[in-house]
Amino acid sequence: MRTLKQLAVDALSNLPMQGQMTIAVDAEARAILREWMLAARHGIQTPAAMSPPAAVATPPPTNAPQTVEEKLEWLRSKAQNWKAAKALGTLRDTMVFATGTPHARLMLVGEAPGYEEELQQEPFVGPAGQKLTQILAAMGIQRSEVYISNICKFRPSMGPQQNTANRPPSEAEIAACLPIIQAEIRAISPACIVCLGGTAARGLLGHAASVASQRGKWFETQGIPTRVTYHPSYLLRNDTITARRAVWEDMLAVMQKLSMNISEKQRRYFQ
Ligand code: URA
Repeated sequence: MRTLKQLAVDALSNLPMQGQMTIAVDAEARAILREWMLAARHGIQTPAAMSPPAAVATPPPTNAPQTVEEKLEWLRSKAQNWKAAKALGTLRDTMVFATGTPHARLMLVGEAPGYEEELQQEPFVGPAGQKLTQILAAMGIQRSEVYISNICKFRPSMGPQQNTANRPPSEAEIAACLPIIQAEIRAISPACIVCLGGTAARGLLGHAASVASQRGKWFETQGIPTRVTYHPSYLLRNDTITARRAVWEDMLAVMQKLSMNISEKQRRYFQ
């Protein structure tokens, strides 16, 4: 039986998925919230926290998405007409959601679809995608075994001169789409997340620092261990042993985090 508190938390968590980023609260509610906030700041338990509300007799709505597949399908349909993104007028119309398995232990997050991805409506299918597939293969993983998504679900527009060129999403475009990827993470609950490039790290972790200064460490996204590494397109532009080694070291750390077997050959790839 779900409690009133659980139902309220679920309802509030789902609001961003419906494109609603704020809710109106009256003066009385504001005063209560302020009291709770001050109490939390001082480590004091509020009466509400000490005595959880009684279980609610009404069952949750039966049409609410239950399985991870249903949740993602629902999210995909919401993302299609994502008001916050459409309102910007700087993103193209085609929504590119995600690829891979909803039961993945590893989730990889890029920045935004490019020309090829928009055409095929699938993330990472262009040259950067091929590089990513190669990296995964070196780890002994197939694309179908992981979940691959992007911070921004629409290809950033280049304006009237649009050609095959791509650009990274702006801060506003990242912020507009962020609730979608956050909801995907909640639905999938992977064991480990990899931010492919600085844009993904800026969105998920709020980090504006360079990838070079973030890689080699563990962070957390919604409580999930998160690694930041270079974007595959960076490797295409800088095909140096240093860059390749850096990405491989991050991937070895990811394999270790996932308790995967690491062969001697894999361990010594760059030695
Ligand atoms: N680059 C990304 O970040 N995502 C894609 O889907 C393709 C290229």
